[in-house]
Amino acid sequence: MELAARRVVLGISGGIAAYKSAELVRLLVGAGASVQVVMSEAATRFVTPVTFQALSGKPVFTDQWDTRVANNMAHIDLSRGADALLIAPASADCLAKLAHGLADDLLSTLALARECPLLVAPAMNRQMWENPATQRNVTLLRSDGVEIIGPATGEQACGENGPGRMLEADEILAALLAHFQPKLLRGRRVLLTAGPTFEAIDPVRGISNLSSGRMGYAIARAASDAGAQVTLVSGPVALSCPYGVRRIAVTSALEMHAAVHREVADNDVFIAVAAVADYRPVKPLAEKIKKGMQTSPPTITLVENPDILGEVAALARPPLCVGFAAESEKLHEYAERKRRSKRIPLIVGNLIGDGFGGDENTLVLFDDEGQHPLPKAPKIALARQLVARISALLESLAWQHRSLGA
Ligand code: CTP
Repeated sequence: MELAARRVVLGISGGIAAYKSAELVRLLVGAGASVQVVMSEAATRFVTPVTFQALSGKPVFTDQWDTRVANNMAHIDLSRGADALLIAPASADCLAKLAHGLADDLLSTLALARECPLLVAPAMNRQMWENPATQRNVTLLRSDGVEIIGPATGEQACGENGPGRMLEADEILAALLAHFQPKLLRGRRVLLTAGPTFEAIDPVRGISNLSSGRMGYAIARAASDAGAQVTLVSGPVALSCPYGVRRIAVTSALEMHAAVHREVADNDVFIAVAAVADYRPVKPLAEKIKKGMQTSPPTITLVENPDILGEVAALARPPLCVGFAAESEKLHEYAERKRRSKRIPLIVGNLIGDGFGGDENTLVLFDDEGQHPLPKAPKIALARQLVARISALLESLAWQHRSLGA
């Protein structure tokens, strides 16, 4: 329940993307938030307030003169004590009003009278988004501290293709969750590897492993939510790229190795979460191996893959390197041995079978100060704790650096 005890006012302005806001309310409520929906008159033409009332469990407000509000000050009352005002969809007209402080209906008046942060998810046709007037308004809003979420590029209700589509409900939720995270890695650059690698034997077969990529993706998201600029080098997984993260898709260990070396310069942190295959077939066959044409079972000769983490840690000016040790036994002994052999400051140990592939995990962090067990929790919660530890290590390294006069 990442939004437990959070009060969110969800403003809905007039646009066809209002249908996605129904799902957004469901997700917000599911994450534990208390959601108060406020709609513009135009929004009610697209989806009725009844839908949002049913999903939020609260009456929906649309009118500045609503007599249900005892003191007749709906614009003040509704946002009082709110943690955020989120407007999704925010139409071009809505952005214009917000940018210029117009207050001619309940939603715009409430935005002007609010004390909480304002986040907006624009939704409009491509030409309206690209119009210099809208772009000017967006720049004004950003400089006023308003967070602009999206828009996405793609197919639009009007039949066009381009920027202006509202983000999907789960992406808007992710942006709101990110908004509430402390910015422990602001200004930092983080490079990660995640997922399995696939080592081709022939055009249709290969060697891989059961890594789902979920832990690595959760860490990428947590680092991005903490304000870092994140690049994720990912092996083949069935996960979508976390909002705000740059993903480079690779297949084999050699491709992952090349991508990491291309990207690593200027990163403050390198987190190797990927389950990299230790060996690959010497040379993948160009044609499919045919069973009938073999006299005996074929032999596959393997050659060792480069140790990506080990190589990065051995660079002249390495980023802060974090490794993973998935073990089936003797976690403490093996993880600590790996940390020392790879000469890395922090290794994350987890017992295979203790959440491998699932949504939850149990981890132990090993660093110079000893062990820090992280009890069983959802992967995103563990990822946020790991990010906090990395931020503390970065701070202490910077401190050591300063005290050495470097
Ligand atoms: N790693 C890597 N490149 C490799 C192999 C592993 O970057 N070629 C990274 C993993 O992402 C992980 C850590 O190194 O962070 C795992 O260490 P390693 O000793 O390679 O683990 P295993 O392959 O599981 O080792 P062992 O078989 O000895 O348990």
